[in-house]
Amino acid sequence: MKVLIVYHSLYGHTLQLARAVEEGIKSVLGVEAVLRRAAEFADAEKDLETGDGYASKIWHEQKAIPVCTVDDLRAADGVIFGSGTRYGNMTAQMKRLIDSTASLWLNGEMEGKPAGVFTTTASTHGGQETTLLTMMVPLLHLGMLIVGVPYSTPGMVHTEARGGTPYGATSIAGPRGELAPTPEDLAIARAHGKRVADVAIRVRSERASKTPDSIRDS
Ligand SMILES: Cc1cc2nc3c(=O)[nH]c(=O)nc-3n(C[C@H](O)[C@H](O)[C@H](O)COP(=O)(O)O)c2cc1C
Repeated sequence: MKVLIVYHSLYGHTLQLARAVEEGIKSVLGVEAVLRRAAEFADAEKDLETGDGYASKIWHEQKAIPVCTVDDLRAADGVIFGSGTRYGNMTAQMKRLIDSTASLWLNGEMEGKPAGVFTTTASTHGGQETTLLTMMVPLLHLGMLIVGVPYSTPGMVHTEARGGTPYGATSIAGPRGELAPTPEDLAIARAHGKRVADVAIRVRSERASKTPDSIRDS
């Protein structure tokens, strides 16, 4: 049983949440967490490779993480997608990955798989909810089962300047990227990853109980 975490992060905050989501998935017995990044645009990658700014530093830390392929999505029993926010939406790099899934859509290959979404913004009201809700739209077209974060999760009911939404894990990066996910943000991201993995197990065992032996054992 595999649960895929696929993220796009320029300055590393979304990557920090992705790592916490990965920990949450790994805490579920029998579930393998597969971490992948959405491919960077070729021109941006060239600049990141040679630049000396903070984004280049993060690039060199994350470039060894394999790029997500359509086959990674196909092989996953559940997927959790993480993206930085761009004007209240996911990044174009993440959208490009999602837009490459026509073959999966045509064959209904993502239908019934649980999916979660997580994001980071620069500011408190910079659009966490709009990014998460708009990320869900193509996943619903693909027939995925959206898994959020229930309010019974510790830290979810709060009025502090930090992340944690019922739509998915979040964090605030700060206008200059000077902030880091809080311990509560990371705990909620872990809980979100664990929940997607728990649901993946339940969905798969329910499917197996309704599937002929020949298919189940293949
Ligand atoms: C083109 C562009 C648009 C952005 N739009 C938003 C936005 O709508 N709201 C916001 O709070 N931050 C916005 N940001 C800031 C990023 O969301 C923030 O730096 C990012 O989430 C940090 O994640 P990362 O460290 O994983 O890259 C934008 C950044 C860029 C480059």
